[in-house]
Amino acid sequence: MKATSAQIVLLPGDGIGPEVIREGRAVLETVAARFGHTFTFASHAIGGVAIDSTLNPLPRATLAACERADAILLGAVGGPAWDDPRAKVRPEQGLLGLRKALGLYANLRPVRVHPALAESSPLKPERIAGVDLVFVRELTGGIYFGWPRLREDTGERRRAVDTLEYTDDEIRRVVRLAFKLARTRRGKLTSVDKANVLESSRLWREIVNELAPQFPDVRVEHQLVDSCAMRLLTAAPDFDVVVTDNMFCDILTDEAAALAGSLGLLPSASLGDGTRGLYEPIHGSAPDLAGKDAANPIGTILSAALLLRHSLGLVEEALAVERAVDDVIATGAGTADMQPGERLTTGQLGERIRDAIVLPVRRAVI
Ligand code: IPM
Ligand code: MG
Repeated sequence: MKATSAQIVLLPGDGIGPEVIREGRAVLETVAARFGHTFTFASHAIGGVAIDSTLNPLPRATLAACERADAILLGAVGGPAWDDPRAKVRPEQGLLGLRKALGLYANLRPVRVHPALAESSPLKPERIAGVDLVFVRELTGGIYFGWPRLREDTGERRRAVDTLEYTDDEIRRVVRLAFKLARTRRGKLTSVDKANVLESSRLWREIVNELAPQFPDVRVEHQLVDSCAMRLLTAAPDFDVVVTDNMFCDILTDEAAALAGSLGLLPSASLGDGTRGLYEPIHGSAPDLAGKDAANPIGTILSAALLLRHSLGLVEEALAVERAVDDVIATGAGTADMQPGERLTTGQLGERIRDAIVLPVRRAVI
């Protein structure tokens, strides 16, 4: 086994962020110790805590550290303390700015349903049995970043504008990544748009169709976003890889989280052209849970597994973490959001998972 050294930046952020990052880091330390790697960690401020200390949600020192890192693990940003709609700076700008500055245009959000948690889902178990899909979210374009973006108050009326814009290059690079991913899985790609209404969606569909001949082994289907929202509830096991624009995917992945039983379980990986990536649970900062040792650390721990796989190339180690999570869930243990048989704190669940991380069994060489 080749020993790997890596520099990992931790961005705990706000709310439950610091608690889940503590568990994510501990898992990475366990992996380093058991598999013989050397990971060094540095923590930096982002989001609301960064606004409080520097007035900037993405301080220069944080961005510089991320640019030098091999990988970044982030907790969550935002909270009621920074929610004034008139505020000029918002915690979320830190996260959006980081994704953009690092060129992380593709966000992978895998959704799997563990059989032991089928009861926690609001859907009937037979509707979700076997769900195993990955969303690929376009992350640095679309309505999140389009220009103009403005607010006008004339006294007589108030007006606000956001702009949904995509170029062919922005669409092509993320769709290509989704095609490649589909090829390594069940070979099916669902491209989601609103082509019956939006010009940007018609361009999106055109680009998907142009790329399709390069991937003859992938079956492509187009689906309108409203009908996709419905099919996620009625036929989720049919999906394999789903690729779509920034905001459609933001919405669909929170919906899909209900399939898995809890938003707290789902990880994500934000990738660009290099190997450096940003890894974060898809849940938010859950201010009501902060400081109570009650948050679910699994979304962050599975994000750490994605970090091992995609940024460090440590596939066996990633699998070992994912298996450990599966094994612990199978025992019925979990945090309150998972409605488990045995209710654990954030710290206890993290420790259970670390204890379950085992080296792969290798045959003796004779
Ligand atoms: C997500 C979050 C973010 C987003 C927020 C916190 C800016 O909802 O990662 O899904 O909308 O991208
Ligand atoms: Mg979201």
